[in-house]
Parts: sequence; C-alpha cells; structure tokens
Amino acid sequence: MKQKCKAKVKDNIKIADGIYDIRLETDLAAYANPGQFVGVYTSDASALLPRPISICEAEVDRNCLRLVYRVVGKGTDWLSKKESGEEVDILGILGNGYDLSTADEKKEIILMAGGIGVPPMVELAKKLSVDHKVSAVIGYRNSETFLLDDLKKYADVYIATDDGSVGFKGNAVDALGEYKLNPDIIYACGPMPMLRAIKRYAEEHDIEAYISLEERMACGVGACLGCVCKTVHKDHHSHVNNARICTDGPVFEAGEVDI
Ligand SMILES: Cc1cc2nc3c(=O)[nH]c(=O)nc-3n(C[C@H](O)[C@H](O)[C@H](O)COP(=O)(O)OP(=O)(O)OC[C@H]3O[C@@H](n4cnc5c(N)ncnc54)[C@H](O)[C@@H]3O)c2cc1C
Ligand code: FES
Repeated sequence: MKQKCKAKVKDNIKIADGIYDIRLETDLAAYANPGQFVGVYTSDASALLPRPISICEAEVDRNCLRLVYRVVGKGTDWLSKKESGEEVDILGILGNGYDLSTADEKKEIILMAGGIGVPPMVELAKKLSVDHKVSAVIGYRNSETFLLDDLKKYADVYIATDDGSVGFKGNAVDALGEYKLNPDIIYACGPMPMLRAIKRYAEEHDIEAYISLEERMACGVGACLGCVCKTVHKDHHSHVNNARICTDGPVFEAGEVDI
C-alpha cells in the first residue's frame, strides 16, 4: 500500500528536549509494518521532498500512525508546530521493514537502538512480543531518555548512556556484555557508528543482525538514487553492488551492506 494522502494531526507533543511525538489519523495505519516509514511533506519551499520518518506505532484501532521525531532542521521544525486538527500530506507506507519471521526459533531476541533510532523499536517490540520474549538494549546520550515506558510494555529494557547517568556507562554493544546478554539475533536502528559496531559484533559472534539505515533520502520511492548504499551482492536489475535504501531497505541483513 503506497499512496500520498492527507492525515489529520490528533496530537503533537514534546516528550524530551527537541523530541516530538505526533499522532496522524490515516487509513495507512492498517498497512504499516515495523521498520517501515512515511514521507512527510512540509510546506517549506526549500523542502519539497518528503521527510522520511519511521513508524513508531501503528495504532490500528485508533486509525493512527504514531511518529516520534527530533527537530534538526526546517522540515522537522515545521512539523513540530502543527497542532491538533491541522492536516499534513504524507506518502506511505514506504520501505521494507523488519521481517518478523526471522525471529522464529530464536531464543534470545535483542533489539538495539540509539538516539532517534529508538522509535521504530516500539512497533517492532510490540509485534515480536506476541510470540517471543524480547529484550532491548537502548543507548542514550544522557538521562534525557524517551519512549522507555512504551518499550517496557513489550520488552525487558537495558539502558546504556554516554555519561553513565542512567544504566551502564558506555555504548549499547558493550552493554550486551555488561548485562550478560547473548543474542541469537539482533534488530537494530541508530547512528552509523552503532550500526557498524553491531555489524562487527554479529560477524564475530556468527549471529544474524538486521540493521535499519536511516540515512539521508530525497524522493523516498526509488527514483533518484539519492540514497544508495554499497552491498556485497550485485543488484539483479542494474548489476552493480548498490541498493536503494528507500526501496530495498531501510532494513538490511548486516552482512549484506558495506557500511
Ligand atoms: C528511513 C528513515 C527513517 C527515519 N526515521 C526518523 C525518525 O523516526 N525520527 C527522526 O527524528 N528522524 C528520522 N529520520 C531522519 C529524518 O528524516 C531527518 O532528520 C529529517 O528528514 C530532517 O529534515 P529537516 O528538514 O528537519 O532537516 P534538514 O534541514 O534536511 O537537515 C538538518 C540537519 O539534519 C541532518 N540530517 C538530515 N537528514 C538526516 C538523516 N537521515 N540522518 C542524519 N542526519 C540528517 C542534515 O545533514 C542537517 O545537518 C529518518 C530517516 C530515514 C532515512
Ligand atoms: S531517495 Fe530517491 S532513490 Fe532513494
């Protein structure tokens, strides 16, 4: 299901410093899978391309998509000022999302996220927890945490902070050892250094890992090649070692991508 449509803002609240939680009323909610995203059109003339934002939760009973975003520039600033009852144009549902069947037969399922990679983990934990026990290792810069209560509904949550103000002092990969977690499979989303460390960890421990690459995008629909990443295997259409993050991803098996 992919279409451009109007969505009504139900609420749009600040939940941490520079972080907002918006609920958009849209029939697209019924078609969303964890790890997929929507493109949000902003009215700023220099920002004609949709801003990709991950689906934090698909609240199908309320017909709402929940997005949690950090204000970093004009587009996200514009979005943060939208009030209940206003409408925004969105394009969705985009991207591949996490394949839930990869968790079958796995004993220790670990979600790992940092910063603005945390939001998609809520929907992922919600879906996985229906059939599996789920743990999550979440990295924050400091005690300014967000979405912890949401995650705790579906997963055992372990925290790492850069400054040690909450949980383990250090990064999320080192926290695995600290908390004696031995994943059979990892699902991750977060900053590139974290994803690289997870890819390395997965290779060293010979386990599956799926990482979501939330890199810069332009069209969001596969047309501009503004989002390509290097892959180990050749694309069967173009015969080059590239993938489009917006359509082939954003979720990739860690061993498939050269990051
Ligand atoms: C698949 C995907 C999912 C995403 N999900 C979320 C989400 O759930 N929540 C969230 O807050 N953000 C998410 N992002 C990032 C978000 O799309 C950007 O922050 C947003 O487009 C910035 O728009 P802007 O107009 O406010 O800023 P711009 O004016 O476009 O940029 C402002 C600054 O932010 C930097 N920037 C822009 N985009 C990115 C990016 N993708 N990664 C790192 N730095 C960037 C720019 O280099 C610049 O320094 C996601 C990105 C992708 C590709
Ligand atoms: S953003 Fe245009 S091809 Fe991916």
